[in-house]
Amino acid sequence: MAQIIDGKAISQTIKDEVKKEVQELSEKGIPVTLAVIQVGEDPASTVYVNNKKRACAYTGIRSLSYNLPESAAQEELLSLIGQLNEREDVNGILVQLPLPGHMDEDAVIEAICPRKDVDGFHPQNVGALCIGKPGFVPCTPAGIIELLKRSGIEIAGKECVMIGRSNIVGKPMALLLLRENATVTVAHSRTADLKEVSGRADILVVATGRARMITAEYVKPGAAVIDVGMDRDENNKLCGDVDFEAVSGIAGAITPVPGGVGPMTIAMLMKNCVQAARMQESGKKNS
Ligand code: GUN
Repeated sequence: MAQIIDGKAISQTIKDEVKKEVQELSEKGIPVTLAVIQVGEDPASTVYVNNKKRACAYTGIRSLSYNLPESAAQEELLSLIGQLNEREDVNGILVQLPLPGHMDEDAVIEAICPRKDVDGFHPQNVGALCIGKPGFVPCTPAGIIELLKRSGIEIAGKECVMIGRSNIVGKPMALLLLRENATVTVAHSRTADLKEVSGRADILVVATGRARMITAEYVKPGAAVIDVGMDRDENNKLCGDVDFEAVSGIAGAITPVPGGVGPMTIAMLMKNCVQAARMQESGKKNS
């Protein structure tokens, strides 16, 4: 039976570390503030946004909440982002995705000041990650690196296979694993012989969006399997992209869903907010 990687416990440790840092900053007169913007009332987005606000409250980060109606014009959102960019008392800005169909997500992301882009989605931060410069790293892949490190799983020199090539998970995950000196393969829906490719992995990260798609046949015995999926099965039960029952019998380590990667995303967002506040404070001193 595989080691179960407890993302809930690890994320709690990180949130407690962040809480301490936030308190120390606050004692030096440096409060940390995150502005969270939601457009429309997508129920899943509302759950995510509320979880983010709850984590802010726990860690002592001030959260400002903005709700625009589904019908809001893109200019209205861009104008709000512009105001938040200018505000010295706002360190991080997060626009919950997806946005309504009439909005251009890329244009919205590009409107966020890169120094406040705690999601790490702005092209400047993506570019920085790509060439190994400091910047904000997207929270889910950053959380996976923390999960591996804090579970004692060596990354350097390992064969890592990332299944999925999204801008939010797959691509930044591949870059982060590379930064940790892994040998990285990115597989996707058009990969020929996915079983053969994924079967080479010492560390397999799965973000396919397809419920329980990855069965034991895709996994090398002893591999660490990280499941980014948040799916519903035929009984509407929450599950991952990995068939946990089957794969936990062969893997060396595995993340459950829920309680694996999910809680880490929010913990890393809190860490990014602290990073933003620190960066902006040192920017003030240097200017
Ligand atoms: N929607 C799904 N995941 C994310 C995320 O990490 N950040 C934002 N802003 N929206 C999301």
